[in-house]
Amino acid sequence: MDDDLALPVLPTSVPRLTLRPLTADAMEAYYELIVRNREHLTRHGDYEEMKVATREAVARDFASPLDRNLRFGLWFEDQLVGRADLNPVDPPRYSMGYWLDEGVTGRGYMTAACGALIDFARAGLGATDVFAGVTHGNDRSVAVLERLGFGAVAEFEHYTRFHLSLHTE
Ligand SMILES: CC(C)(COP(=O)(O)OP(=O)(O)OC[C@H]1O[C@@H](n2cnc3c(N)ncnc32)[C@H](O)[C@@H]1OP(=O)(O)O)[C@@H](O)C(=O)NCCC(=O)NCCS
Repeated sequence: MDDDLALPVLPTSVPRLTLRPLTADAMEAYYELIVRNREHLTRHGDYEEMKVATREAVARDFASPLDRNLRFGLWFEDQLVGRADLNPVDPPRYSMGYWLDEGVTGRGYMTAACGALIDFARAGLGATDVFAGVTHGNDRSVAVLERLGFGAVAEFEHYTRFHLSLHTE
């Protein structure tokens, strides 16, 4: 997808739960989401930058992102409850990253969101493969990926790499 093309809003299989392009107008809501999830996000050693992220650092990241991720906010009605990204590591191969407000875990929201993101990757971006890396011990993240059909393909010192093939044959 051309960098200048706007990302679409993606409905999910859960009513009123949508993925919307994460842009600067959601900055305050996103910052508040980080503040109330600092411990949840960093429990397995991931997202270390979230532990200390200031409002200014978050604003800078929205203004000039250091990555080329296709960023989506996960919204339940008008409440921002998480984030899910596609990282164009080596198109048509993408990797996926995701996290959820601790207060809405256990409802299937992230499985639904990642399912919608994968459908978009396949149909909207022509993706052939999606990867995700999960730090050892993050069993709930592994469960999300397994529900979506991913399988473990490589073990590293700190994490396992998961893969989903989107090839149709
Ligand atoms: C990883 C993370 C997103 C998983 O959250 P989650 O709430 O377990 O995942 P889902 O939203 O898909 O919900 C699944 C849970 O809802 C339940 N559920 C209820 N209805 C469901 C439905 N229709 N479909 C699927 N699951 C459903 C499942 O049984 C499961 O609960 P369980 O783990 O107690 O069995 C979350 O723990 C998180 O944000 N962690 C911190 C950041 C992180 O680790 N990100 C991933 C880095 S690789």
